[in-house]
Amino acid sequence: MYQNWQELEKACSGCQKCILGKTRTNLVFGVGNPEAKVLFIGEGPGEQEDLKGEPFVGRSGQLLDKMLDAVDLDRHKNIYIANMVKCRPPQNRDPLPEEQEECIGWLRAQTALIRPKIIVCLGRIAAMRIIDPKIKITRQHGQWVEKGGIWMMATLHPAALLRDPRKKPEAFEDFLSLRNKMRELQID
Ligand code: URA
Repeated sequence: MYQNWQELEKACSGCQKCILGKTRTNLVFGVGNPEAKVLFIGEGPGEQEDLKGEPFVGRSGQLLDKMLDAVDLDRHKNIYIANMVKCRPPQNRDPLPEEQEECIGWLRAQTALIRPKIIVCLGRIAAMRIIDPKIKITRQHGQWVEKGGIWMMATLHPAALLRDPRKKPEAFEDFLSLRNKMRELQID
């Protein structure tokens, strides 16, 4: 158990637990307000994120920021954003189960310090690991489940919305639902 955020970030910064540590440019620890009560979890860094060391700074990230802004949320203020794996998988392939396994301790430690009341999984990889290995995200996104006192929901990954923009209204509904849940839990 880490005592504080700085201690955790320092311990994570040189991680070489899996092969991704050899190929990354930068480890992408996360971004946002660790005091926030809402934790977003993505899949893993892409090319831009690897270069900048910050999650969701490429095209997916720009769309994510727009969607957050539409419901009056700000990545630096009322949420924290982390990924399932902290280093970029080569050619943006899905992170392998063993890479996720090696990395999840860091996410658990982040979650233990943040103590979120809400977790939003961005896309299938996070949703399967955090919510339900059998989740079918196309059908079950937007559904809330409570686990260990934390409310959780999966939504469509912004990259999927870039591939199929017709799905954007569905994802926007999820963001509105997040806002409602925040109100219900008196988070702001
Ligand atoms: N996609 C993700 O899942 N995470 C990022 O940080 C960037 C793109």
